[in-house]
Amino acid sequence: MTAYAQLRSLLLASPKTWLVSGVAGFIGSNLLETLLKLGQNVVGLDNFATGHRHNLKQIQDAVTPEQWARFRFIEGDIRVLDDCRVACAGVDYVLHQAALGSVPRSLEDPITTNGANIDGFLNMLVAARDAKVTRFVYAASSSTYGDHPGLPKLEDVIGKPLSPYAVTKLVNEQYAEVFSRAYGFKTIGLRYFNIFGAHQDPEGAYAAVVPKWTAAMIENQPVFINGDGETSRDFCYIANTVQANLLAATAQHPDAANQVYNVAVGDRTTLNDLFEAIRSTLEPRFPHLKDYKPSYRDFRAGDVRHSLADITKAKTLLGYAPSHRIKDGLLEAMDWYVADLAGR
Ligand SMILES: NC(=O)c1ccc[n+]([C@@H]2O[C@H](COP(=O)([O-])OP(=O)(O)OC[C@H]3O[C@@H](n4cnc5c(N)ncnc54)[C@H](O)[C@@H]3O)[C@@H](O)[C@H]2O)c1
Repeated sequence: MTAYAQLRSLLLASPKTWLVSGVAGFIGSNLLETLLKLGQNVVGLDNFATGHRHNLKQIQDAVTPEQWARFRFIEGDIRVLDDCRVACAGVDYVLHQAALGSVPRSLEDPITTNGANIDGFLNMLVAARDAKVTRFVYAASSSTYGDHPGLPKLEDVIGKPLSPYAVTKLVNEQYAEVFSRAYGFKTIGLRYFNIFGAHQDPEGAYAAVVPKWTAAMIENQPVFINGDGETSRDFCYIANTVQANLLAATAQHPDAANQVYNVAVGDRTTLNDLFEAIRSTLEPRFPHLKDYKPSYRDFRAGDVRHSLADITKAKTLLGYAPSHRIKDGLLEAMDWYVADLAGR
């Protein structure tokens, strides 16, 4: 039995109370769905900056009325300390996801990104510490590896940040470490690599590559690859990410807390490979994609060339065992992508 299977049995038998910040966003809404299906009590906090009410509605439709009754939503802003305090009251575990994502957004508007990602983060840390939550798990980022060229990425070896977004995620780790040392507060940072799956927004200037390309292909619109297509990433399906969060919150290994972990699969996929993986997954349903080709344009500022994780640390200390590789994730998420687009 895997560590995650054991944990799920344990949680079903003995429910806890979880705070998911950013609950109306992509990763937050997936955490909500899994936790409710495990019979947990969930408090959600979001200001809908980039998240959507329809994500919450879709989770409501995916769970039973009894499970949904265990969810309490607070519309609030992590930049407001009182909102964080209200949300943290009586909570066992915090899964802090709320932030403004996207490297390009941060390059265009560093001040707003800083407000949510650093001021908001610090508010959440203070509120969670004061509420004496058992553990504070937060969304860190692979962007923290910055300009360090080494591959695969090992948690202890980072470079200099390449964007304001990357600065905010590095500062999050530094604050978490200081709170561990200074106040004995238990934190775990999860450095997400490129996460994809259901409830990820395909629209807007800052949409992530998987939902954006999937939507474009279904609608027979052009797909643009920035650069030559040999830029590579470690794409990680959302089910793996949810697993890592639940394991991180509850891990019993004596060295598990006050650490950061890569959350990825350990597979290197170029953008050209990704294009072909999405195209071939969709083609049986959308025959117009048989001879579909991408368009190439300039490289994008702030993007790192290659990103690939070493996930040994999460495997060893958290019992993390990714259940989905990229193709499995695309197949599983495809129904959602198609239904989501049809509903727009
Ligand atoms: N998706 C990825 O590949 C990826 C990779 C690395 C790190 N991350 C991090 O994971 C976390 C979740 O990302 P996501 O992909 O689900 O993004 P998302 O934009 O879908 O979700 C973020 C949520 O946070 C909320 N939010 C933003 N500012 C807020 C504020 N001031 N107060 C309250 N709520 C606020 C948004 O409304 C949204 O619902 C973020 O911290 C992001 O930086 C994501």
